[in-house]
Amino acid sequence: MSKRVAVIAAGQSKFGTLGKSMKELFIDALKDCELNTKELLTKTEEVYIGNLGVGGSQLGNPAALLIEHGLRTGISAQRVENACASSGFAFRDAYRAIRSGAKVSIAGGVEVMNDLSPLHQKYWLGVSGDTEWERLAGATFAGIYALMAKRHMYEYGTTKEMLASIAVKNHRNAINNPKAQFHKEISLEMALNSPLVADPLGLFDCCPTSDGASVVFLASEEVARKYTDEPIWVTGSGAATDFLALHDRPLISEIKATQLAMKQAINQAEIKHSEIDFAEVHDCFTIAELLAMEDLGFYDKGEAGDAILRNDTGIDGTLPINVSGGLKAKGHPLGATGTGQIVEIFNQLTENAGKRQLKNVQTGLAHNVGGSGATCTVHILRRE
Ligand SMILES: CC(C)(COP(=O)(O)OP(=O)(O)OC[C@H]1O[C@@H](n2cnc3c(N)ncnc32)[C@H](O)[C@@H]1OP(=O)(O)O)[C@@H](O)C(=O)NCCC(=O)NCCS
Repeated sequence: MSKRVAVIAAGQSKFGTLGKSMKELFIDALKDCELNTKELLTKTEEVYIGNLGVGGSQLGNPAALLIEHGLRTGISAQRVENACASSGFAFRDAYRAIRSGAKVSIAGGVEVMNDLSPLHQKYWLGVSGDTEWERLAGATFAGIYALMAKRHMYEYGTTKEMLASIAVKNHRNAINNPKAQFHKEISLEMALNSPLVADPLGLFDCCPTSDGASVVFLASEEVARKYTDEPIWVTGSGAATDFLALHDRPLISEIKATQLAMKQAINQAEIKHSEIDFAEVHDCFTIAELLAMEDLGFYDKGEAGDAILRNDTGIDGTLPINVSGGLKAKGHPLGATGTGQIVEIFNQLTENAGKRQLKNVQTGLAHNVGGSGATCTVHILRRE
């Protein structure tokens, strides 16, 4: 059984309002992989597909559907649903399949959101928070994260300018990502003066609704080098849950599941925070990126805001975050987001990230959150 697990290929479709079906998006993701995925699919033993079924597309059996269109049947394929962290968990499942003896496995994700009306989108999004106490009382996800932002502002003096600066950075990063939903630079003034969605969050503090797919091939140490000279090793995998409803959590200025998942991943990887060169974190709202910086342990509580103003997390900063544009500007097709983050880490570590390529990077981290923090995965990947 393989102790070491490699990512050997990764790809994604464009994210955005695309008018394509789930199958077409998944084929786009397969085509984006550098390797011959037809051959790899014949060797694949286990498939895990993250998907919420938010749109009007295929609601049941999406994993079998997608693999059928990658021209494979007769293997184990299943859907994984953990809200916006669905494909972070699909990746963890595919990783564990290799650890348990499979030679090649697939993690992927897909979501078609824009075939629903805005009203239906918001309803289906909201039910991944606490349905009984939050969604049915009228709360949207923007509203829930707004409460967390307000509390963080109250406890630590966090400002709207700090949050808006995250949006400015992520929109700027997305300009160099051809797969991103938005290619539009925004100024701090635009971000600060954008229409209010849920006080204190404005339009540019929110991720958009997106269609898209992503796919990652994993392999055991024994076979990885048959397919690529540049395997990227998964050195840490962590996952945790928390109460769904904010009112059940002792603190809402932190995401406990992130802290716990990070502890597992970094202990397994046997590295220090300072050895992580860059991160893709779950910025569904700007406050979520700020919380991630603290809960992942890169900054003490209350210190991430100043780090943002210093541009520590910019592409030339000490810890680049969301070089892809993040959920904010690359887009957030729910089920496809977690493995989409792994695609970015893989591209950076294999030096295939084009104009946004970071220099001298060896270790990257992916952080994927479900709902307002009820589920979370953290993965650490490293090149030799
Ligand atoms: C922010 C939000 C409410 C805006 O929805 P909306 O008011 O229906 O916006 P529209 O789709 O009508 O778009 C209006 C304009 O704003 C732009 N836009 C929409 N969302 C945007 C966003 N998040 N950031 C930047 N621009 C955005 C659109 O491109 C469009 O621009 P155009 O007029 O130049 O074409 C919606 O995107 C949303 O709910 N986002 C959060 C999704 C979510 O909760 N995901 C799960 C997270 S846990």
